[in-house]
Amino acid sequence: MSDRIDTARDKLIVALDVSSVAQAEALIARLGDTVSFYKLGMEIIYGGGLELARRLVSSGKKVFLDLKLHDIPTTVERATAQVASIGATFLTVHAYPQTMAAAAAGRAGSSLKILGVTVMTSYDNADLAAAGYISGVKEMVERRALQARDAGIDGLILSAAEVASLRKLVGSDLLLVTPGIRPAGSNADDQKRIVTPGDAIRAGADHLVVGRPVTAAADPRAAAAAIIDEIAQASA
Ligand code: C5P
Repeated sequence: MSDRIDTARDKLIVALDVSSVAQAEALIARLGDTVSFYKLGMEIIYGGGLELARRLVSSGKKVFLDLKLHDIPTTVERATAQVASIGATFLTVHAYPQTMAAAAAGRAGSSLKILGVTVMTSYDNADLAAAGYISGVKEMVERRALQARDAGIDGLILSAAEVASLRKLVGSDLLLVTPGIRPAGSNADDQKRIVTPGDAIRAGADHLVVGRPVTAAADPRAAAAAIIDEIAQASA
């Protein structure tokens, strides 16, 4: 049972969506050994969080740097190599073929895994058209998922509601990492298409990114433990 819980523990990634390193550290201390994997996004990273990422790695935690890189290939490759040297486990890049190939080259020889962001979930067909794209969201997500596989990156970050169809499209070649997770009966906040931890795992997700259901809970540690338990049961 404890092996199953440890495997499930690594599938839960808690999003440290707080504005200061002090707040993040207080939360990490409360979560203790229950949580093994943290996502740090642009807000906390630009607020001094890169040193926190290094400290988390030194203390044995896994770190997902959600930096959504996108630049000319040389810059992406070199920036990715720097992220790899921190010891991070996951890094996001926008899923453009050049960017993905550059990130794959930059992490060569390290254990860093690259996740592609296909289409931001704040974009709908009209937003893509306004930005000059001729594809709609569904077609673009599928095209970029296949390009991610061809570019040799490791996975995709995508809405939990898209996991089942993407899993069919890419098979077991890519890791699928999903936000938009809400345990049954919890507040949806601003997420529009929510999926329970158990349903996301059964649909084929490899890791779940969870923010407020843990970070805003009266007892964050108990909330995280309950999600890990649900993941373990769904993985059985
Ligand atoms: O608090 P909540 O569980 O909604 O947080 C979800 C996390 O996943 C946040 O860090 C959010 O930025 C991120 N995310 C998301 N939807 C996406 C991509 C990332 O909610 N499409």
